[in-house]
Amino acid sequence: MKQVGMTIWLTGLSGAGKTTIGSEVVNRLTTQGYKVEFLDGDIVRTKLTKGLGFSKADRDENIRRIGFVSHLLTKHDVIVVVAAISPYLEVRQEVRQLIGNFMEVYINASLDTCEQRDVKGLYKKARAGEITSFTGVTDPYEPPLNPDVECWTDRESIDESVQKVLQKFWDFQNVND
Ligand code: ADX
Repeated sequence: MKQVGMTIWLTGLSGAGKTTIGSEVVNRLTTQGYKVEFLDGDIVRTKLTKGLGFSKADRDENIRRIGFVSHLLTKHDVIVVVAAISPYLEVRQEVRQLIGNFMEVYINASLDTCEQRDVKGLYKKARAGEITSFTGVTDPYEPPLNPDVECWTDRESIDESVQKVLQKFWDFQNVND
């Protein structure tokens, strides 16, 4: 199948649903015959960006490395799905410029919702002071100003959010075909 390389970049708070939506987008596109690669923050941080912490400098470095690999894959017409908090606007802009064919997806859930979900128990630890510099609690999150897609995971079903991403993806593929 002819496909135009692009990076679908999911940004949002921890627990907003980036991994859930990202992996479902990957599954659907793979089923449709697309060649897709998934770069998930939690996994990338055990390999490509192992050893980096959560200071601004380390987060920016994490995003730059993910952005670099995404750029290479995109150039070779792979569809790349990235799921990373990527809390800083400036470095997101930087990787957008580098990659070119780039779709920013804001996985938006309120801090309250993410904290209530607390899938990994990290918000509790952050509130207890056991984790420092935790995004949304003791560290900043700069939301996208003009995302290509915005998914409201506290009001939409996973399927609705996934459909929004896929629709934008198909629009892009058709325009660039
Ligand atoms: S990013 O800020 O550099 O984009 P990334 O998405 O790779 O972050 O990793 C976030 C994951 O690291 C979270 O899902 C969580 O499991 C874990 N984590 C550990 N410490 C922190 C922290 N201080 N802030 C945010 N996430 C953290």
